[in-house]
Amino acid sequence: MLKNDTHIGSPRSRVDGPAKVTGKATYAAEFATPDLAHAYIVGSSVARGKITGIDVAAAGAVPGVIKIFTHENRPRTAWFSFRHKTIVGPPGRPFRPLYSDEIQYSGQPIVLVVAESFDVARHAASLVKVAYEQHPHETDLGRARSDSYEPPRRRLGIAPPPKPRGDAAKAYDEAAVRVSAEYTIATEHHNPMEPHATTVIWEGGGKLTVHDKTQGVQSSQAYVARVFGLSSDDVRVISPYVGGGFGSGLRPQHQLFLAVMASLALERSVRLELTRQQMFTHVHRPETINVLSLGADQDGKLTSIQHHALAATSRFEDHQEVVVNWSGLLYPAENVDLRYELAKLDTASPGDMRAPGAPLGVFALESAMDELAIAAGIDPIELRLRNYAERDENDDKPFTSKALRACYSEGAERFGWSRRDPKPGSMREGRELIGWGMASGVWDANMMKTSARAVLGADGKLAISCATSDIGTGTYTILTQIAADALGLAMDDVTVALGDSSLPTSPVQGGSWTAASAGSAVMAACQSLRETLVKHAGKIDGSPLVGAGIDDVAFAGGRIMMRLDASRSLSLAGAVAAAGGSVEAEESAGPSLLGLMLPKSHSSYTHAAVFAEVRIDQDLGVLRVTRIVSAVAAGRILNPKTARSQIIGGVVWGIGMALHEETLTDHRLGRIMNHSFAEYHVPANADIDDIEVIFVEEHDDKTSPIGVKGLGEIGIVGTAAAIANAVHHATGNRIRSLPITIDKILADAV
Ligand code: MOS
Repeated sequence: MLKNDTHIGSPRSRVDGPAKVTGKATYAAEFATPDLAHAYIVGSSVARGKITGIDVAAAGAVPGVIKIFTHENRPRTAWFSFRHKTIVGPPGRPFRPLYSDEIQYSGQPIVLVVAESFDVARHAASLVKVAYEQHPHETDLGRARSDSYEPPRRRLGIAPPPKPRGDAAKAYDEAAVRVSAEYTIATEHHNPMEPHATTVIWEGGGKLTVHDKTQGVQSSQAYVARVFGLSSDDVRVISPYVGGGFGSGLRPQHQLFLAVMASLALERSVRLELTRQQMFTHVHRPETINVLSLGADQDGKLTSIQHHALAATSRFEDHQEVVVNWSGLLYPAENVDLRYELAKLDTASPGDMRAPGAPLGVFALESAMDELAIAAGIDPIELRLRNYAERDENDDKPFTSKALRACYSEGAERFGWSRRDPKPGSMREGRELIGWGMASGVWDANMMKTSARAVLGADGKLAISCATSDIGTGTYTILTQIAADALGLAMDDVTVALGDSSLPTSPVQGGSWTAASAGSAVMAACQSLRETLVKHAGKIDGSPLVGAGIDDVAFAGGRIMMRLDASRSLSLAGAVAAAGGSVEAEESAGPSLLGLMLPKSHSSYTHAAVFAEVRIDQDLGVLRVTRIVSAVAAGRILNPKTARSQIIGGVVWGIGMALHEETLTDHRLGRIMNHSFAEYHVPANADIDDIEVIFVEEHDDKTSPIGVKGLGEIGIVGTAAAIANAVHHATGNRIRSLPITIDKILADAV
């Protein structure tokens, strides 16, 4: 049924674009209601200890202050930690705001001031005085390293490292060519354009409408119902637009709890928005130290891979991500030993951030492969081709599809790799050293059970709905394309409603699975709608489609027509009329969560080859990434325009990871010191030059019914490694800790 596609596969602009650029799109902190109260959080100024006293006298005396909540006067709700858990959270005891006098991290919300305006709440919050009993804390991963760690409690959906294969240590010792080094990646904080916020509308009678910044409205709904003992019928969560999530909205964040708590207690609508600085008080990408050793024979064929990662987590949860498994997946070797451990620090719990784990482990692996290529005197692409994995050796399974070879060749061709002089420092222009580097990228291709509804009205217009979010990825647009093609309509004849907990069930939007999952659900709903329409159309007296089955007809131009005789056709409106005025179908697609845990016959991943050019001022060490080519294999590309945007976004973040992003903590205080855009750097327009995206041909019929593998995360994986490899090529200096700042370039200068 995908043969006559007109919208799918074509570069379409975002259907939500006009609403966004004209300001009509409403975000969580923008929903207005009369009599709205505003809340502001006071955070702990110590990293560990107990609150011994909170003086709210001055704050409470400010005109306009309505109520000040602390652990001492908070309303009674469900305080068992398990009730705060959600399916995507790690094992442990989730942070519960205002739970007790215990301080678990600096910045932890400990007081909530509610006032008639945001400014009054913020001013009053500044007058709250808190006394603490301080306990010793540890926030420094380097200092927290030890010889033994408790194994992490298994996190649902996160594969632990595979069992060791062969004897990697022995094979390393005997290898003809060896490299071994430590690679680290700094802590990064999520900074989507839209900070976290929740507006709770008190509807009366205990009913709430919650506008939450979230990647999963139904997850937020279930959380609120569970924690506050409400019926889910009384809680509707709406989030039609999300200004970027990147993982920060996968779990309910503390502003949701606090806003709902205040609204229920005051029986009033409440808004709580975090400031940019407060965005540094919850999830983050954990600092990770990788020790990677590769052994190979004279021809560069890998004989031993050892990858040991140590990642930071909080003291109260075992946040886990897949960091080391990629090293056993990308390249085959007979001897493989992968280990992943956690060190507990007195910080907020880390969380998923775009391709959680992958760009960290792959930075280490792909830097080490570059070092091995140099040690063996082999071109970096040639080395990867000599070690190309035809199967997933971690899981001993074939791949659903893997067009990584085409990524290497098409990316190299576009980049001009054959013109590269491999000698470091050999390419220059005036005072600028030029470096060319490359790396592989890999990420999961998953599908999750999702439902969608399709309703065709008497006017022949199609309404699609699904609870999934569109966190900015283009979900509205691709679902419109899929539905329009399925019914033979123009995109303007299709509306898509998302981000409302009352719509058909969807998992959180994450893991790059939404296009495959919601897309397949919409396709299934439309297919069911088509069958109903044809059934009714065939029954109309004297119908041109009499006797036709679903396989005999095509949907095009707002009509249903016989495939073999287009003169026999009926308008969709006519078919709908025959069906009684409107036709509706709701369908699901994809395995249930249980299904995901069952053994699968194939492994499914997206792949990329990233090529980077850097130019470095030889005297000043100023580094610019002047060119990136990212060649991506991700199955069927529904919309080359929004798909390209996803990869560009990932590449930009990869540049940020390589050069800019770094959360800096004063470990004496256990406190983050650069919690603003003045000091926490993300790439600005001036940092971004030429980014070219190539989608290589890849046919995949196993990952999802619509051939889609997902694109939201692959763009970041490998980008930092390609840049670090380019820096080495330009200068001869190998920088193994991200971000690569000027001081590191100058400190290592030849
Ligand atoms: Mo993503 S880190 O699963 O939003």
